[in-house]
Amino acid sequence: MSNVANRTIFIRDNLEVMRGVNSASVDLIYLDPPFNSKRMFEAPIGSRAAGAAFKDAWTLDDVKEEWVTQIEDDHPALAHIITAAGKAHSEGMQAYLTWMTVRLMEMQRVLKPTGSVYLHCDPTAAHYLKAAMDAVFGSDNFRSEITWKRTTTHSDSKNWANVNDIIFYYAMSDNYLWNPQHGKYDPEYVHTKYRYDDDDGRGPYTLDNMTSPNLRPNMMYEWQGHASPPRGWRYSMETMTRLDSEGRIRYPDSKRKRPRLKRYLNEMPGRILDNLWTDIAPVNSQAKERTNYPTQKPLALLERIIKASSDAGDLVLDPFCGCATACIAAERLGRQWIGVDISEKAYELVIERMRREVSLGDADLPALFGSVSHRTDAPKRTDAAAPRRSRNIKERLYIAQSRRCAGCRIELPARLLELDHITPRSKGGPDVDANLQLLCGWCNRTKGARSNDYLRERLSRAV
Ligand SMILES: C[S@@+](CC[C@H](N)C(=O)[O-])C[C@H]1O[C@@H](n2cnc3c(N)ncnc32)[C@H](O)[C@@H]1O
Ligand SMILES: [Zn+2]
Repeated sequence: MSNVANRTIFIRDNLEVMRGVNSASVDLIYLDPPFNSKRMFEAPIGSRAAGAAFKDAWTLDDVKEEWVTQIEDDHPALAHIITAAGKAHSEGMQAYLTWMTVRLMEMQRVLKPTGSVYLHCDPTAAHYLKAAMDAVFGSDNFRSEITWKRTTTHSDSKNWANVNDIIFYYAMSDNYLWNPQHGKYDPEYVHTKYRYDDDDGRGPYTLDNMTSPNLRPNMMYEWQGHASPPRGWRYSMETMTRLDSEGRIRYPDSKRKRPRLKRYLNEMPGRILDNLWTDIAPVNSQAKERTNYPTQKPLALLERIIKASSDAGDLVLDPFCGCATACIAAERLGRQWIGVDISEKAYELVIERMRREVSLGDADLPALFGSVSHRTDAPKRTDAAAPRRSRNIKERLYIAQSRRCAGCRIELPARLLELDHITPRSKGGPDVDANLQLLCGWCNRTKGARSNDYLRERLSRAV
């Protein structure tokens, strides 16, 4: 159950806000965080610089010890990757990934088992973020890497122009919500396939076979002077009569050729969309939705994501909401929403934007405008009764397990043992003492997001 009202904008660090949101209470998260681009953005993006312009760049001074411990405890392998990124790339990347990972961990906690998450980023940090997403949401739950062609005007005389953003899409489990989305057919495909038009206002159509591929004795009859096909027709005489009265049958000039069915282009759902999105234009200076927010994303992009991964009434969270594109899109599609941004400027823009959208008369926004809550506090969880894991659980387990790995039973120093969720968090296992054990690195990686039974089976094969 959600403990935050629909249509709430929080102006506060999203880590504090998300820590106050009930577990398993959100259906869909879209996040468009700062990308570690080392560029200046006008809108402030870090708590230290709140209210002022801020660089999208991180240093290890921004990292709290508590975050490092939390990552080491829950995702020891990822902790190694982050440290390695610090050596291989830069300390800035290490700091950025730490900052992002603790937030991703809260997102994983607040999403329902049927939920989904979309992380919008660009190639600057995408390949490092993918590793963090795999660890936190489970690599089995990775669904797609969407490439969005975000601009057509960019040109670069010394490089292939970088025109794409990347959106990582993960589900929380195998039991996730999915509504396939359709787009326009390729004009070339339409041109070659929908070749006919009767100029009766019904538009172009293509012709389909009306003969049955399998033997159907009960569909063998003569139709308008055309003998039954050897295996029968595809339709009963009743359906044939209806199709004929609707003008949907095209008759050939010879009785030896077969009549065919007209399929109209405007009745087709469109091309089923894939992970390459080239049909969503950037928010240009002409666009009605333009707010001048430096990193504003198009409504069409958010509407596509929200339609595919939520149903009406579901709760959408955008923890880096900026000028609240995701919130406006959610509202237009009848979803509930919560937006979080650290910048007060963002809230001003949200309100300004809602006014503008109202005057555009696009949706039922007047009602919405009056009912948006503006909060600067962090919410308080109402499900906190759920037992939490104790702080010194690692030491306690080390003694309880007689200093041994719970899998292979080899005795090891504590620092070589890693905390493992017996039922993985990606499979709904709770973060409580009773669901924790210490494993050596080999056992932990062998088990992965699987069960102890699986690990035991692998161990018995290993000897
Ligand atoms: C790339 S922008 C998001 C743009 C948004 N998708 C839109 O369409 O307007 C990133 C946002 O994250 C916000 N932000 C940065 N650090 C934050 C934090 N710790 N908590 C909440 N918001 C933060 C920034 O203020 C900025 O508005
Ligand atoms: Zn072991």
